[in-house]
Amino acid sequence: MKFFVDTADIAEIRDLADTGLLDGVTTNPSLVAKTGRSFLDLVAEICDVVSGPVSAEVASTDFETMLAEGKKLAKIADNVAVKVPLTQAGLKTCKALSSEGTMVNVTLCFSPAQAILAAKAGASFVSPFVGRLDDIGQDGMGLIADIVEIYSNYDYFKTEVLVASIRNPIHIVDSARLGAHVVTAPPSVLKQLFNHPLTDKGLAQFVTDWQKTGQSIL
Ligand code: G3P
Repeated sequence: MKFFVDTADIAEIRDLADTGLLDGVTTNPSLVAKTGRSFLDLVAEICDVVSGPVSAEVASTDFETMLAEGKKLAKIADNVAVKVPLTQAGLKTCKALSSEGTMVNVTLCFSPAQAILAAKAGASFVSPFVGRLDDIGQDGMGLIADIVEIYSNYDYFKTEVLVASIRNPIHIVDSARLGAHVVTAPPSVLKQLFNHPLTDKGLAQFVTDWQKTGQSIL
């Protein structure tokens, strides 16, 4: 299972990349706006830090402009995945870009029917938003189960299920249980995965007991 971080904060990206456990990055216009930085410079910097896919989202909603924006973003680095919305024009853009060998992440997916279309359009990734479905009282993880099951029926669907809008570690564990290929989560949620109070308690005891031996390994 691949772990992407859902942020445009370069310091957070560097910190997580340093662990060796980070496989990619997803950004969106809202996350970029928070940084106050030039989008194109930011994408280039992130692509230098992380060798895996870095999702950079188009800003327009019509086919011609999305295609032009996507082509420009794809030129920044080989690991750019152009992010397009799950609309008719977005999927047309996805088809055009993926046919040229560009990675595409189709975002704002909220139904199995939309996910089928993303796979048919040749998306590298489809991003179903679990948290935003949960927020309106719908079953976010149920959508992941449906998409994983449907995709597994067709060997020629190469699209990876990228679980997005993750709110907590349980979303990540449930995604793994269902066999989703990728999760993208905010830095705070990824960092929560490392922690357990019994790990802290046990480690404190081991350190104390080791000091009693008066030995040094090095
Ligand atoms: O980047 C797409 C998605 O992960 C956004 O999540 O928390 O804004 O619903 P959220």
